[in-house]
Formats: sequence, structure tokens, C-alpha cells
Amino acid sequence: MGRRFERSAVRELLSQSRLVTLTGFGGIGKTRLAIRIASELRRVFPDGVCFVPLGDLREAEGVPDQIAGALGLFGRSTQSSTVAVVEYLTERSLLLVLAQLPEGPHPGHEPGAATRRRRGRPRGCSVDLPVSR
Ligand SMILES: Nc1ncnc2c1ncn2[C@@H]1O[C@H](COP(=O)(O)OP(=O)(O)O)[C@@H](O)[C@H]1O
Ligand SMILES: [Mg+2]
Repeated sequence: MGRRFERSAVRELLSQSRLVTLTGFGGIGKTRLAIRIASELRRVFPDGVCFVPLGDLREAEGVPDQIAGALGLFGRSTQSSTVAVVEYLTERSLLLVLAQLPEGPHPGHEPGAATRRRRGRPRGCSVDLPVSR
């Protein structure tokens, strides 16, 4: 199923908002839809898209570290992952796809696909977008 309507609806939402959250029962295709959309938007975001798999996390506390790792920010400085990620995103325009968020309170953010837009900079993402199935 191509989910053409859902894809264009989410793209429209992404053009209006920095944060778009896909919710629904497990297995209905949220991750797959997000990956497909992200691959379609690769060239739309000057700094590209970055897929951040969070399925291995048991607690939301690990989310900032996981995002920092996906962006290749580990070992760059002694600051916290949250600060490093925020600083990094401040001067970039990229689409982050956060997949399989663990339950529980998230430090500073809600689940979904977050976007930040600003002027272009060298793109950075250490994780390749999974091939959409
Ligand atoms: N539009 C679709 N057409 C066919 N199969 C789909 C579609 N969306 C998802 N699937 C399949 O359903 C399963 C669950 O999808 P997934 O994206 O992981 O769901 P979720 O993230 O909502 O739990 C996967 O095996 C995926 O390949
Ligand atoms: Mg999923």
C-alpha cells in the first residue's frame, strides 16, 4: 500500500511545523511511513535527514545520547548530549526521524519527527536511512 494520502498529509504538516508525531497501534506502519517520507524529503532539507532508531532503549533517558550518536556528536566535547544536539541543530536544517520511542517522560521533547530549519551547513548523520520496505 502506497499510503499516498498519508504521505502528502505528513509532508504538508512538516512544512508547517517543526515537530510531527505519528501515533497509532503497533504494526500499523508508522515507522515505515516515516522512513518513506524521509527518503522523499532528503533533498528538501539542506542538511538532509537522519534516522534515529530508539527501539533498543528501555528508558526515555537515553534518547539524547542516541540522537547525539546518530548525528556523530559523540566524543566531540564534554557537554551533555542534550546541549550538544541542540547546539548542532540550531545552525542546521535537517529532518530527524525518531523511531520506536520508549514510553515515559522525554527530556525536553515529545516523540515524533522533529525538524529544525536554519541556514545550510555540512550535513552530518552517521546512520543511513533504512531502505523503505
Ligand atoms: N503501507 C504498507 N503496506 C504494506 N505493508 C506495510 C505498510 N506499512 C507497514 N507495513 C508492514 O507492517 C509491519 C509494521 O510496520 P511498522 O512501520 O514497523 O509499524 P509501526 O511502526 O506502526 O509499529 C512491517 O512489517 C511493515 O513492512
Ligand atoms: Mg514503529
